[in-house]
Amino acid sequence: MSAIKCIGILTSGGDAPGMNAAIRAVTRSAIYNGMTVKGIYRGYKGLITGEVETFNSQSVSNIIQRGGTILKTARCMEFKTPEGRKVAYDRLEAEKIDALVAIGGDGTLTGARIFAQEFNFPIVGLPGTIDNDLFGTDVTIGYDTALNTIIECVDKIRDTASSHERLFFIEVMGRDAGFLALNGAIASGAEAAIIPEISMETDQLSDMIETGFRKSKNSSIVLVAESEITGGAMGVAERVKKEYPQFDVRVSILGHLQRGGSPSAQDRILATRMGAAAIDALLDDQRNVMIGIQNDQLVYVPFSKAIKNDKPINRELLNTLRIVSM
Ligand code: F6P
Repeated sequence: MSAIKCIGILTSGGDAPGMNAAIRAVTRSAIYNGMTVKGIYRGYKGLITGEVETFNSQSVSNIIQRGGTILKTARCMEFKTPEGRKVAYDRLEAEKIDALVAIGGDGTLTGARIFAQEFNFPIVGLPGTIDNDLFGTDVTIGYDTALNTIIECVDKIRDTASSHERLFFIEVMGRDAGFLALNGAIASGAEAAIIPEISMETDQLSDMIETGFRKSKNSSIVLVAESEITGGAMGVAERVKKEYPQFDVRVSILGHLQRGGSPSAQDRILATRMGAAAIDALLDDQRNVMIGIQNDQLVYVPFSKAIKNDKPINRELLNTLRIVSM
């Protein structure tokens, strides 16, 4: 018998499509294994203020198809302080919660790691972020849906880009990671992607324009990853206006619409598998690990690895993009 009788579940940081599917899977797997489940609203903030509700199987009915998170989410400054974390710990004790499942991105897992170490408290993390920037997992929950949203938008922008024969810079999210930009560019047939991972090595804009760019085309779409390093779509467009004034340039920033919408089949399946695996991990006495997926196999990734290591982009994809966008 596991010593864990009651788990708490929360979502924190930026929401991602598929978080609800994960909440559903965690809740039902925990109940199946005889545990009590407590939903904690608004992430670490709700843990501190005590926004806790006991969940049953029906609490998570009819949510697998919904974007966002029924548990709400927040970015919590107080949890970054030892005093805030102590209040959170006292709350867990008072609620008789023996372990936590935390769903979120880098910030969420960083908070989980510090808290778990400080109070020797069992936490399992699920990678929920559209950015796909967590090390140790091929994909994160929400990434596939965000990619699908991006290609839907780019398809539409292409109609106007080609009608006006314009050069469009479309900014996508990713914080400081270029996964959405690079794979979004491949999937939408864009001409290029400008991503932070290689900004230090090469001037992607001049490489792109000076190596045969638009030889056979009158319009172009370039995906730019949001980041101070790339300068974002605005920064890149300003440069083009100065250095290559022959182009008729426009900018489109996709913004938060990338985070919304009903999760794709892939995200629902991923979230469900990972949610069930979180409970297996706790039953298996795993602590302070993130559930990852590598070559379709679920794996346990220590928090220290998931958040500390920069996840590399697949450089082959850059070359493929160059070849197929001729
Ligand atoms: O981490 C997810 C993400 O959407 C990033 O891509 C983006 O930089 C950030 O969150 C935006 O955060 P907020 O919604 O707090 O503005």
